Parts: sequence; C-alpha cells; structure tokens
Amino acid sequence: MDKFLIRGGKPLHGTVTISGAKNSALPCLAATLLSPKTVTLHNVPYVRDLITQRRLLEDLGAETLLLHKHTHKITASDIELFEAPYELVKTMRASVLALGPLLGRFGKAKVSLPGGCAIGTRPIDLHLRAFEKLGAEVSLESGDVVATAPKGRLQGADLEFKMVTVTGTENVMMAAVLADGTTTLRNAAREPEIEDLAELLNKMGAKIEGAGTSTITIEGVEELGEAEHSIIPDRIETGTFLVAAAITNGELTIENCQPKHLEAVINKLREAGVEIEQIDDTTLHAKCSKDGLRAVDVITQPHPKFPTDMQAQYMALMTQAEGTSVVVETIFENRFMHVAEMQRMGADIEIEGNTATIKGKKNLTGAKVLASDLRASASLVLAGLAATGETLIDRVYHIDRGYETIVKKISSIGGDITRIKESIAMSAENGE
Ligand code: UD1
Repeated sequence: MDKFLIRGGKPLHGTVTISGAKNSALPCLAATLLSPKTVTLHNVPYVRDLITQRRLLEDLGAETLLLHKHTHKITASDIELFEAPYELVKTMRASVLALGPLLGRFGKAKVSLPGGCAIGTRPIDLHLRAFEKLGAEVSLESGDVVATAPKGRLQGADLEFKMVTVTGTENVMMAAVLADGTTTLRNAAREPEIEDLAELLNKMGAKIEGAGTSTITIEGVEELGEAEHSIIPDRIETGTFLVAAAITNGELTIENCQPKHLEAVINKLREAGVEIEQIDDTTLHAKCSKDGLRAVDVITQPHPKFPTDMQAQYMALMTQAEGTSVVVETIFENRFMHVAEMQRMGADIEIEGNTATIKGKKNLTGAKVLASDLRASASLVLAGLAATGETLIDRVYHIDRGYETIVKKISSIGGDITRIKESIAMSAENGE
C-alpha cells in the first residue's frame, strides 16, 4: 500500500486547478446506462472511483472510450448483464447507482447490498422503498438486492424520502425518467451534484424539473438519446484547498471552481479568519488573515448547509485556531476516525457521541498516521502540511479514490509531499 511522506511547515503559494466532481461524475456515468445512444462526458476526474465505475459499465456490456484522460464516451446499446457484483460494491459503494438506471430501462437489476463502511452503516433502504413505490418488486437474495418491474416498466408515483439521501435521490431520479407517468420526489437532496445529474438527463431527453430543490418532478419518457455534458467542479476539493491555504499560512488562487456550490464552507471559513476573495465566477483567492484563525463551531447538515465531506478538513484547521471549537457530525455515525490520528500529531480533541471539542493553537508534530476514509485522509494531509517534522500517512489508496493527482497539485504550490510506493515504503520503515 502506498504512503505519503509530508515534510510540513511550508506555506503553500500559487495556483491550483480544481478537477471535476467525483460525486457528480459517478451518477452521471451510471446515467449513461439509460440510453442506447452515445453519451460523452467531459471533466470527469481521473480518480480510482471513476475507473471502477467505468469498469462496472464495461462489465455490464457498455462500450466505453477514453477520448482523453477526462473525457469518456459511453455507449450502452448492448447491455448483457444486469448486476453489480459484490467484488465491485465492496470496493465502491457508489456502484449501487447502477440499480436505478438498470431497473428504469430494463425492468430488472441486481446489486450486491453494500456492507458497513468506515464511516458508518450506510444502508440503502430508502432507495429500495422508493423503487417499490414506483411499482418494483424488491427482494434480498443471498446478500443481493434483486429488483424487477413486473410490467417491465416502472410506474410514476408521488413519494417522500423519510431522510435526505444524496445517492438515493439520484438513484430514484434515474429510475423514474423512463417510468410510465409522472413521479414527484419530496424531501429530495439538494446537492449541486443532483442538479448536474438532472441537467445531463434532460440533455439526454428526460423531463425533470426542480432538481436542486427539495421537490423534483419527473415526467416519464419512452426513451433517451445521445448527449454531451461537462461535469461540475469538485466543491469538496475546492474546500480542501481553501483550508490548505489557511492552515499553512500560505496564499492560493483556486481556479476552475464553482464558488456558489460551497457558500456554507466559504462563509464558515471567513468567520474563522480565512480571507477568501471571489475573483470571478470560477476563481477564488484564499489566505489567512493577519489576525490568525479563530475557533468557530460547525454542524454538518445536508446541502446547502455545511457538508459532512468537509468536516475532517475543517477540524484540522480548528486545531490551529485561537480558542475552543465544537464540531457536530449529524450525517454519519463514526465519522471521527481522523481524530485519533490527529491526536497522535498533538491535537487536543475530545469526542463525545457525535460531538468533537477541539482546543486550538496546538503545535502539530509529524507522526506515522493511518488514513481511514477519503476525507479523513485529506484532513491528515492538511494536518501534515501544518505540522513540524515528517508525517507518514499509510493507506493513501483512500485518497486516490477521490482526489486527482493530489501529490502533483500540492507539490506544484510548494508543499513537500512524496508518494512512497509500497516496496520503497517498506524499506524506509525498515530503516534502509
Ligand atoms: C453521498 C456522498 C458522500 C457524502 C454523503 C452526504 C456520493 C457518491 N457520496 O453519500 O460523499 O458524504 O452523500 O452528503 O455522492 N441513509 C439511510 N438509508 C438510505 C440512504 C441513506 O439511512 O437508504 C442514511 C445514511 O446512513 C446517512 C444519511 O442517510 O446517515 C445520508 O446518506 P446519503 O445522503 O445517502 O449519503 P450517500 O448518498 O451514501
């Protein structure tokens, strides 16, 4: 397993370009299963989860062509298989996003039930109840979810999610575009990724209104056609680099981002003393204020509130702020795995249930730490960049799932970070 070696304490300076949003590209790739015609997607980030998602499409029988590192041309005219096997779902939970399109277009789908993951149980019961509302029969067979539309086609329905779910909203929206009649999704997630997916589906010929609000209306159509679409920039990568500028006391220009997608993060960081200037519609400039960072509390909530995917990175920042801050995680249980690692670096953080209390202005010192999930890994990179001495982060395959060329990007703005390939890492550990 690869590791990152970070020699901290160097302010980051320069310009960084944001990649396409992983969490938008994943459902958009799945959406190509809805059409027999070619769909071209630009600005797809070159990260491991997207490579896995492309492999899933290929396994199902779709033809995929990588025109360029970030441009995928996908034609799902000949689908031979209707299932996402356990081997794929266990490595990437988002493969459950194949369920909606397969069920919507072919009236049948089988997806292995995702097990627990590092950040909590993460069931898909809300997806399944919604499919049933659309007329599907859903059963569990040897760990697989099997869903069929008895009449071959789903029926439009009026349904309300008991809880806001991002991939649930996406999955059901994709299933409903080819249903017979109109579907209304209430208490839908409002994340920018949902709007992006709806935009792609509408380009393919779907009739979706209200994506980005809590009520989405989908008028079913007979079939979908070809389309070309560019994925939105990654708001979490943007937020991570805003924190990187502040935590290293540096100054960064962040290009190709979409500031309106991360207003809650920008506002919170400004409150905490990060000077963020919007240069134009797609460019931000960030640096720490002369007065330094202040402790400010955060509660994670569904969009447009503060995202859970920025919680760990924000906590890293708070270890350097003046005063005591409280971070409450309301979306996932067990999403404080980074805390024990930050404590090893000298952070003063106490956890009680879903609440973390961080006493700031602690000098972080480099240590050997373990990455437990994608965003936790990002927070450890940030802590490592702020720490004095060397930080060795193990299990960085988590970060490779969602951050494109992070070592190259951070190195290009003055950060001292190196990827150590497994065999070399082993020698380094052995003192060779
Ligand atoms: C998506 C994002 C993830 C982000 C999360 C919350 C993708 C690929 N992943 O994950 O990065 O952290 O949104 O913004 O887009 N729940 C149920 N039953 C369900 C579905 C969800 O109980 O059927 C619960 C979950 O356990 C969790 C909460 O609802 O506590 C929100 O989960 P959800 O919005 O579904 O997260 P994901 O879509 O998995």
